[in-house]
Amino acid sequence: MSSCEELYMLHHGVLLPRETHSAESLKFAHDLKFKDDDVLAVTYPKSGTAWMQEILPLLLNGGDLTPIHTVVNWDRVPWLEEKRLAQIVDQLTSPRPMVTHLPYNLMPPSFYSSKAKAIYVMRNPKDTLVSSYYFHQMAAFLEDPGTFDEFMDKFLDGKVLFGKWTDHVKSWRRAELGDRIMFITYEEMVQDLPAALRRMSDFLCRNLSDEVIEKIAEHCTFKSMKANKMSNFSLVPKVYMDNEKSQFLRKGTAGDWKNHFSSEQVARFASVINKELEGESFSLPWSLE
Ligand code: A3P
Repeated sequence: MSSCEELYMLHHGVLLPRETHSAESLKFAHDLKFKDDDVLAVTYPKSGTAWMQEILPLLLNGGDLTPIHTVVNWDRVPWLEEKRLAQIVDQLTSPRPMVTHLPYNLMPPSFYSSKAKAIYVMRNPKDTLVSSYYFHQMAAFLEDPGTFDEFMDKFLDGKVLFGKWTDHVKSWRRAELGDRIMFITYEEMVQDLPAALRRMSDFLCRNLSDEVIEKIAEHCTFKSMKANKMSNFSLVPKVYMDNEKSQFLRKGTAGDWKNHFSSEQVARFASVINKELEGESFSLPWSLE
């Protein structure tokens, strides 16, 4: 088993996996010149990033399925902060879709002064934790999560990828972003994907018909993505992600935490998160108790 130091680097206090991030990739991101029509999906890890890598190209191109059938998701909608971006950024056509897990304060300077839009996807942190727990079991470039209880403590302490969930969520609630940002939840997307797509499409001023929205929804279901080798991570070599231990597209539901949390863990989790969000101008759309 590899140690935390071998697997992760520290970037302004935030842990990042060395397999996918480096000082160079972070410098490349820092120096990237955002264009006004760039579109960013922002997520804390395990909140629906890959889902947005499916959705964004289709919303932006009016439902042409070519990108989701011909380009792997990490090249189609690359991570801003990962090593891969430098190799493929020139192949992106505008409007360029990207994803990021960076907290707002670590965004590239040009993002702040651009008009690029951001869609922040938030997921119930109890389900994020469960999803992350399984992801740590299958991803060789992440630390062994230990027991669920141990992993919960790490999550609550922020000793996990991209730091504390509460810090991430809080960081993006910035008045200066105005109408450049929209907030949506993973749960809204699970409950009514066409309605969620309509909200995103309106935010991006795409003016898509109901037929196109329905078509995009159909191709972005959990089932469709699981069957799409360009989107289900099956092309990642087993040494990096072992699908036999857990699938990347694992369950795709809201509320799986009920199968994992004890009542004591629910109370502990809720008390930490609620305390850290005390006094914030926003409230969570779910009760954590
Ligand atoms: P589960 O592990 O709970 O199944 P990320 O892409 O940010 O790493 O998030 C991964 C989570 O999003 C996984 O959650 C995955 O199954 C879920 N997901 C991806 N595509 C989805 C879809 N089309 N519908 C529902 N959930 C999806």
